[in-house]
Amino acid sequence: MASRVNDDHIFYRSPAKFYPMVERGEGVYLWDTEGKRYLDGSGGAVVSSIGHGIREIAAAAAAQMEKVTFTHGSQFTSRPAVELAERLVRMAPPGLERVYYCSIGSEAVETAVKMVRQYQVDRGKPSKYKVISRWTSFHGNSLGALSLGGHMGRRKYYLPLFPHTPHIPPAYCYRCPWGREPGSCSLECADELERAILYEGPDAVSAFIAEPVVGATAGCLVPRDGYFQRIREICDRYDVLLIADEVMTGIGRTGRNFALEHWNTVPDLIVCAKGLSAGYHPVNVVIAKGEIHRVIREATGTFVHGHTYSQNPLGCAVALAVLDYMDAHSLVNRSAALGAYLLEKLQVLRRHPMVGDIRGLGLFAGVELVKDRETKETFAPAQKVNALVGNRAFAKGLITYPGGGGANGVHGDHILLAPPFIITEAQIDDLVSVLDEAIGEVAAELR
Ligand SMILES: Cc1ncc(COP(=O)(O)O)c(C=O)c1O
Repeated sequence: MASRVNDDHIFYRSPAKFYPMVERGEGVYLWDTEGKRYLDGSGGAVVSSIGHGIREIAAAAAAQMEKVTFTHGSQFTSRPAVELAERLVRMAPPGLERVYYCSIGSEAVETAVKMVRQYQVDRGKPSKYKVISRWTSFHGNSLGALSLGGHMGRRKYYLPLFPHTPHIPPAYCYRCPWGREPGSCSLECADELERAILYEGPDAVSAFIAEPVVGATAGCLVPRDGYFQRIREICDRYDVLLIADEVMTGIGRTGRNFALEHWNTVPDLIVCAKGLSAGYHPVNVVIAKGEIHRVIREATGTFVHGHTYSQNPLGCAVALAVLDYMDAHSLVNRSAALGAYLLEKLQVLRRHPMVGDIRGLGLFAGVELVKDRETKETFAPAQKVNALVGNRAFAKGLITYPGGGGANGVHGDHILLAPPFIITEAQIDDLVSVLDEAIGEVAAELR
């Protein structure tokens, strides 16, 4: 029997998959047009941090649209843009003083890379251009951002189009390439950055980019304490800028405004996206050190870059309303508290032999699935175990963000969880119980 597909004119991501028609969202739930309810256990793709259908945000958007929706960044500034920048600078670590507006995460990542490059040229170091990144990372799907990412499944078709981008191994304690334990290792994974800088040439390396907690490609890789402090030291030793890709982790997802705060590390630039507007409008930012802005202003006088929708008043007004809502409901603290509850409840999944690891920080958690828990052997990629679990959960009304290839770019399965911060303990109990059922059923089928 042919499986059901969507019979319309959209170029869907996976044309062979059936996508239900969404009707509306409210709080942590979405409903489709057939009346089925879904618990949004992943905020879509780690986006919906304050929940769906919040009226205050709709009202703020409508009020701004009645005044002015669009102005071009080369012609006007606006009150919402000025206020949002001021607000973000207050939330960011000291020294990060300038906000550049973008629309999507990949664009913001590439904006940070271009900003760093222009800064190096403008400060008289034109030989510095290389950006080092990590394997098992994701920085976006546009070509430049994809070249920095370290996920072979996403990269393989486009490899011939990439510039040279050196990669180092990630901080992946569960699969430590050196076979060390987090409590006793010497942070060999951080020292790899120094090795790469020396191989590439310190005079040629401009920046290092990393997600503080790896999201899409491996299901919440939380580095051990000391990792980012060591990375910062190495960057400083070789005059290399540190770009924190906080597209997923920023604005409370890990229980702090920005995830690098957990390790008292101040980057030179923060890329911040999804939670900033919580899905209510595409608005993303790069928050840069004041020094970067000063050098570019005094040398070239212009950042040679820009996109049509950047800095539009509507997006800025929406993000301001989201931040107001977060403050009014103490949602960053709530993410920390409910995140601890989620991580504790997820431990029940260890009863399934195919659950190899459970990790998380704030309301950002990952469950890694393995064929053999003792050896950590992965399932064959063709089995698509992460999709089996994700689809089973979806059919039961739970949205997760499954992924594969975390172990080595091809092998590995995980389920990423990132529910809205307004989720209750009872809803977390539901989430875990549906995931438990889904994993149990897939495990039985695979036996
Ligand atoms: C860490 C990280 N950086 C960049 C991006 C790219 O964002 P976008 O999909 O908005 O281009 C993502 C998207 O998931 C991400 O997780």
